[in-house]
Amino acid sequence: MSVIGVVSMKGGVGKTSATANLAAAFASLLGAGRVSAVDLDPQSALQYHFGLSNAHNEGVCAQSLRGGSWRAITEDSAYGVACLPYGAVSEVEREDFEALLERDPHWVGKQIQRAGLDEDAVVLIDSPPGPSVYLRQVFACADIVLIVLLADAASYASIPAMESWLVEMSHSFPQVDSVYLLNQVDRSEPLNRDVADMLRQQLQDKLAPIGIHADEAVKEALAFQQPVLIYDPHGQASHDIARLAKWLIDAINR
Ligand SMILES: Nc1ncnc2c1ncn2[C@@H]1O[C@H](COP(=O)(O)OP(=O)(O)O)[C@@H](O)[C@H]1O
Ligand SMILES: [Mg+2]
Repeated sequence: MSVIGVVSMKGGVGKTSATANLAAAFASLLGAGRVSAVDLDPQSALQYHFGLSNAHNEGVCAQSLRGGSWRAITEDSAYGVACLPYGAVSEVEREDFEALLERDPHWVGKQIQRAGLDEDAVVLIDSPPGPSVYLRQVFACADIVLIVLLADAASYASIPAMESWLVEMSHSFPQVDSVYLLNQVDRSEPLNRDVADMLRQQLQDKLAPIGIHADEAVKEALAFQQPVLIYDPHGQASHDIARLAKWLIDAINR
């Protein structure tokens, strides 16, 4: 089993979109039943990308507090991706879950192991922005962590904080490979282009060779509650995500 975490220091950079769209791309490459997407963000938005908005409110949060198997709250989507929502919970439940994660840094990894997934399954994990118990859990169980960035000043400014977090994490969890992913690339915008060039110079091979272009279809796909690969299979973002998924499969197998 391979685990890919999707993280960022800043919110709104495209973590949830990247998680959902990459999961759908993996499912089309590897076949249905081999890809799971776990939502570790209390916003619980990942399920909407798979049309599971009317799903019951159960999820990894309440199920963990109950001590139940994550398998029981896994929902099969129409896109070959099994989704594990965070779930709609009260503040008290969220705090209790976070306390549980604080006590056991390997909780998420253990639940994924126990969920009875295929040996060669790929699990993607979405996370809330910035340092948190969730981010630590991702680092504890991931093989690869994708750090999503925009080509803007705010993302650029977040790199030192991310780098010092990475140094700290690499001591505790040396198994993780982390790689930056540039999202919403737009070479026609001077600032976007300049920051992208600066990031490439600064991060070099720590930046994934394939970025995801800014593409309205990503937003529209969410409005239709579909992965962008289904909504607009021949568009720029779909093309990027398919290539990125192939690159990640190669990285996993290296
Ligand atoms: N490549 C892209 N092109 C255009 N819009 C995008 C792209 N990636 C994400 N978005 C949009 O950016 C917004 C934030 O994305 P989201 O995935 O929710 O970010 P995060 O999970 O990091 O908070 C959403 O409206 C989403 O549709
Ligand atoms: Mg999100």
